[in-house]
Formats: sequence, C-alpha cells, structure tokens
Amino acid sequence: MRYERVKGTRDVLPREALARRELEKLVHDKFSRAGFFPILPPTFEKYELYQHSTGEASDIVIKEMYRFADMGGRDLALRPEGTPSVMRAILENHLKIPIRLWYSMTMFRQDKPQKGRYREHTQIGAEIVGEAEPEADVELIKLGYDLFTEMGIEGMYLELNTIGCRECRPGYTEKLTRFLTEHQKELCEDCKLRTQRNPLRVFDCKVASCQEVLKSAPSQREHLCQGCKEHFDAVKKGLGRFSIPFGENERMVRGLDYYSRTVIEFKSTLLGAQDTLCGGGRYDYLAEELGGPPTPATGFAFGIERALLTSRGEDIFEFSGASIPLLVLPLGDKAQAYALELIFKLRQAGISVQAEFRSGGLSRKLKRADARNAERVLIIGEDEIAKARFILRDMHTGEQKEMTFEELLSLHELKGHSLLTNGED
Ligand code: HAM
Repeated sequence: MRYERVKGTRDVLPREALARRELEKLVHDKFSRAGFFPILPPTFEKYELYQHSTGEASDIVIKEMYRFADMGGRDLALRPEGTPSVMRAILENHLKIPIRLWYSMTMFRQDKPQKGRYREHTQIGAEIVGEAEPEADVELIKLGYDLFTEMGIEGMYLELNTIGCRECRPGYTEKLTRFLTEHQKELCEDCKLRTQRNPLRVFDCKVASCQEVLKSAPSQREHLCQGCKEHFDAVKKGLGRFSIPFGENERMVRGLDYYSRTVIEFKSTLLGAQDTLCGGGRYDYLAEELGGPPTPATGFAFGIERALLTSRGEDIFEFSGASIPLLVLPLGDKAQAYALELIFKLRQAGISVQAEFRSGGLSRKLKRADARNAERVLIIGEDEIAKARFILRDMHTGEQKEMTFEELLSLHELKGHSLLTNGED
C-alpha cells in the first residue's frame, strides 16, 4: 500500500458514520429539549489557550498536544478537548450567560494508541455555563445517564468525587505536598514532578509503588469547606432522588486543571484499560482564568468511539458493503434514459433505488445485480416502456411480477429503507 493512514487515526467507515449521525441526532433531540444549543468552535486555537485552561501540569499539555507553528510563526495547537474553546467562544462573542451548549467535535491527542484510545477521536460534550447550583450538576448527570441508558451502554457505572474549591483546596494541597515530599524516594519520576506542579494529579498515577504510597495520603474529604460539603451532599442527594447509582471515588481527580468541586466519570466494564466513557465536572474558575467575569460552569464529554464500542460492539467499525433494496436494470438506450428519470420519481416517493447503467444484456445485468447485493431488480426494456408495466424480480427467490408504476409505489417492502437495514455482509 502506497499511502497508509497516520498512526492512531481511523477511517470512519459507512456503518460507523451512520451510527454517529444517529447518535448526534439523539443527543440533539434530548439536549435541545433541555435548552442546549449546538456550537462549533474552530479545530485549532492558540496554544496558550490550552496552556492556561487544560493546564500546564496536565498530561495533555505536557505530553499529548499537536502543537505547531503556522507559516506566520503563530504558536497553535489542534484542540485536545472542547471545554477551553467553548468558554473562549462564549467570552469572545459575548454570549449571554447563563447558556447551555453542546458539541460533537474531533479532538487530537498524541497519546499511545490502543483499543479505545486514538490520536484523533470525537467527543460529544455538553456545557452548562452560568449555573453554580448543585441542581445543575445533577441535571447534567441525569441527562448523561439517561442518554447512555437509551444508547444501551453496557457495564456502565458512575464515579463521583469532589475536589474542593479555592477556599479549601490550598490547605489540602499544602498537606498533600508535605506528605508527598516526605515520600519522594518512593515516587516515580512523573509523581516527583507532579508534587511540584500539581500534587492532586498524583492520584492519576498508575504505577503500583505510587499507588501503595497514596494509600496513606491525607484525605481531601476531611479538608472540604462547608460550602463544598453542602454542594457535594446536595449532588448525592439529587442523584439518589433519581435512583442513579454511583460510587464515590476519593482518588478520582481528573486529568485537567480547571476542575473544582464535583467531578464525574461514567465508566464501562467493557472498555478494558481505557475504561472511561465520559468525564466531566464543575469548572467554576475557568472563565476568570481566561480573562472573563466570575462564571460558574459544569459539563461533561464522552468519546463517540468508546460509546459505540460499548453499545454496539466492535462490529460497528467494520463495513464491506451493504445491499441495494431496489436496482433498476434498463435494457437498451431508450430504457437507460427512461430509467434515469424513473429512479428520481421513485426516490421522490420515498423508495431507495439505484440503476445499473453499465451496458450489457439481461443476464449480464442480473449477474452484476447479484454481485452488488441487490434485493430486488426492476427490469425495463422497450416492451415494458411501451406497456408502462415493469418486471419486478426478487433476487433471493427468483420470483417475478409485472406491475405498473403506481403498483410499484404501493409496495410496502420498498418503503422506509435506512441505508444499512438490509442484508449487510
Ligand atoms: P476527558 O476525560 O479528557 O475530558 O475526555 C472526555 C472523554 O473523551 C473520555 O472520557 C473518553 O471517552 C474520550 N477520550 C479522551 N481521550 C481519548 C482518546 N485519546 N481516544 C478516544 N477517546 C478519548 C475532557 O476532555 C473534558 N473537556 C470534559 C469536560 C467537558 N469537562 C467539562 N466539560
């Protein structure tokens, strides 16, 4: 093969591409009823935006950015996540707050590719901007929970944590830093760096020896201020009211710098090492960090690839052709022109139909129809045109029937075909 795709990228083949359209439609229907509008920020931004939002201490910014200089020497990056762009767009375009926005966008992260982890992936995200109350967190989580349930995500579970706020986090971070400094020798190189840059992030570390040390680390729960405690209790109570099952995970800190208070992850037991389907939480200070007014916010995003993997299985990624519900076989020049008109009339009436225009006699065209996986064919020769009656042949049974255009239109089996509903191989 002369050209291959770049490592970590994927070709989204027709079956998956169709499933994505369906999923986006479902999200649009559900979320627009909850007041969310779609937004589509640009694919690349100034590198600085991510440095100041996703965070200088995050793995994404340190290790995974597609950072580049354009011909004008500007320092740019392909977006690794959507939240910074959405907040920048709100501030830059002076969108009225409160506002609710959703998106479906490709993201770029130069991480090690594996099942469920790609260098280009697509996230569907939802952001509630301008609402500080725990009810907004609960509403968002419930929207996600219902969506994933409706999608049929298997093995799903929700993890919840709170990571404090400006009031209470510094005191905890100080205590944690002291603890980590005492244990520096037992920590991996990354965690040594994290101790200085963003100590909370050590809880993300997968190294067994670090995990061992962290077992005796001070607990953030004991350092929460009254406001954070009340907020967290209200979120848990709200989830209880909707009977949404969740587990508290004190070690879950999320890999991005802007979070405060509530953080969430929906996971699936089907995903293996990359088990997070959806991540999110509150980011009450991001607007200010980007130069805007104080604006509380909460949001989440899920990876489409992981969502399809856990709801439809691996098959969704494969495609080697689909069947054709109806294929017109014109025989002769006059029939070719006639067929071209006919297919548009049939389509207008809601029938999915194509024509086999490559020249040849009936037996050749029938062979081609078979090779193209046609369910039925409509044979049109000069005689049929003269009589205005066509021959409909079932390619599976070989049964043939003569019928008029009107009779053809009234055939139920020809209506309402989605592109992949019939005899996929
Ligand atoms: P995140 O947890 O980094 O959060 O990513 C969200 C989701 O995107 C993940 O749970 C996962 O399903 C998917 N994902 C991430 N990286 C990859 C990858 N390399 N390959 C395939 N799927 C991937 C965020 O990006 C935040 N912006 C979420 C958010 C929105 N927080 C508040 N609002």
